[in-house]
Amino acid sequence: MSKEKEQTQGTPISRRNFLKGVGTGAVAASVAPTVLVGAETAAEAQMGDKITRAEIKLNINGKTYEVEVESRTTLLSVLRDGIDTGGERVDLTGAKSICDRGECGGCTVQVGGKAVYSCMTLALEAEGKEITTVEGLANGEQLHPVQEAFVQHDALMCGFCTPGFVVAAKSLLDQNPSPSHEEIKEGLAGNICRCGTYPFIFEAVKTASRKIGG
Ligand code: FES
Ligand code: FES
Repeated sequence: MSKEKEQTQGTPISRRNFLKGVGTGAVAASVAPTVLVGAETAAEAQMGDKITRAEIKLNINGKTYEVEVESRTTLLSVLRDGIDTGGERVDLTGAKSICDRGECGGCTVQVGGKAVYSCMTLALEAEGKEITTVEGLANGEQLHPVQEAFVQHDALMCGFCTPGFVVAAKSLLDQNPSPSHEEIKEGLAGNICRCGTYPFIFEAVKTASRKIGG
């Protein structure tokens, strides 16, 4: 399986390989930040590549946010709770913090066009890449075809998993505009719906596929 496939939900992948693809957060802790700030002690200052805090710019839904993060700060944490250095809250709470350990897909967003678990992605990893959350899919009042199809098929009950599924489905269709039933099941295998709305979700993806694929 290609590396591309391992890192996306937009292609037929197994849940195991999806997890492998997004489980690179710890490695990325060595990524050099844009700005290092606040080394608090001489010992920390001498730690070289051990990052304490950094100011980074994140492009989220076409808007640039400058945020201060620690090397361990996840993208999900910035999206939900981050505060721009100008004092503006990022406040994008569509991505859900459910398991917070790469098991449910509720936090799925796109980074650089690929679906990732934002709870398993360091904010530092996302710098310089286009980040798209569920809030960024609609065009003004016009819902994305995947969102429309979820509404049309009533593909949710409690709705907690829905933002993750919508982004995962969008990513799947970006990669494969006309997936088969099996490809949809496999492409969404990294997301869990505890309410069991899978049949409706799969139908919604097929409807969106027809709309997008023509
Ligand atoms: S909250 Fe990220 S995978 Fe569950
Ligand atoms: S609709 Fe409730 S978890 Fe999916």
